[in-house]
Amino acid sequence: MFARRFKNRLIFQQKAGLRRNPPEIDKRDGKYLFINSKKVLNFASNDYLGLGVSEELKEKVADNFLKYGASSSSSRLVSGNYSIINRAEKKYASFFGYDDALFFPSGYQANLGIISTFFEKEDIIIFDKHIHASSIKGINLSGANFCGYNHNSMPHLKKRLEANKQKQVAVLTESLFSMDGDFLDVHSFGKLKKEYGFLSIVDEAHAFGAIGENGCGIARGAADIALGTFGKAFGLFGSFVLMPKGFKEYLFNFSSPLIYSTTLPEAHAASAIDLLEIISRSKEKRKHLRKVSRIMKESLKRKGFRVTGDAHVLALEIGKEARAAEVSQSLLKKNIFVPPVRYPTVPIGRAILRISMTALHTEKDVMSFIDLLPAP
Ligand SMILES: Cc1ncc(COP(=O)(O)O)c(C=O)c1O
Repeated sequence: MFARRFKNRLIFQQKAGLRRNPPEIDKRDGKYLFINSKKVLNFASNDYLGLGVSEELKEKVADNFLKYGASSSSSRLVSGNYSIINRAEKKYASFFGYDDALFFPSGYQANLGIISTFFEKEDIIIFDKHIHASSIKGINLSGANFCGYNHNSMPHLKKRLEANKQKQVAVLTESLFSMDGDFLDVHSFGKLKKEYGFLSIVDEAHAFGAIGENGCGIARGAADIALGTFGKAFGLFGSFVLMPKGFKEYLFNFSSPLIYSTTLPEAHAASAIDLLEIISRSKEKRKHLRKVSRIMKESLKRKGFRVTGDAHVLALEIGKEARAAEVSQSLLKKNIFVPPVRYPTVPIGRAILRISMTALHTEKDVMSFIDLLPAP
């Protein structure tokens, strides 16, 4: 019965051009991937600063695992509450300018863990309609009332806030959107926050490390709580949540995804501490990332494409799902890797190629991409 249902659904996905079938990757070498023994230039990595493949980080992480061992072997709430994890979290809070920080095994788990715990039935969550799937899942699990506002539309957010004036409201957004690649209008968002006094959660997964002074993102002035992931610009894995006093203890007591999961190992915390120093001295990498990203966007526009994105995440609008898959396949034949992004990650009929720029890319890489991309 189950098997038949799964098979039918997959056939439907295939017919709709939505079947997900990622290629198997033999290995990674800097900005290149090896797929079926073929070397392809990767435009689909979130390793924005190239740290994930840097010898320096690899050595530090290896040393930390040798020193501390491979696992914490316990939830944080049992025998996993190691001093070095607490020390690392304090350093993260202070580096990013918040009272407290808490590490989670992934950004997905963090969004689920905080949103489903902080909010409940009587609360209202107002959210940007393009926030990450993990936040949406957290909202659903919380049991709170919720309503979306149009992507990055501050007038629409204001309308929603007016309609919910008497209630306890939280607003969820991102600082650099994962698929559209555009920035939150932090100034207007901050003004609305002052006017309506809501609690704000800003997901800075794509900004932390890569954007802002010392890689500190863009939303500090307007965020009560911020989420960062180690899996993107930090070149590691896991995530951190930055928050005001009192919230961490609440999570320790009530957050099921935190309480009932093995905490990240001490070696992770030691590597996170090493990373703060690496991130602060990565100014040149951030500058180069900005430059190649700008050149890519301008060149795509000159070639006649519609493209959105204010920084290193660029969304090349394609439209039909099948066409996006076709363009991606044709690029792969020419040794360029950039997979299509389709429904449900983006709305139906609005498929994109999500181009992820990294500090490893050069102007020459951008030019080969542009030359090999089929005309719109
Ligand atoms: C905006 C946003 N938040 C959270 C996550 C989840 O982070 P992680 O990959 O660490 O689970 C992602 C990852 O795709 C993301 O794009």
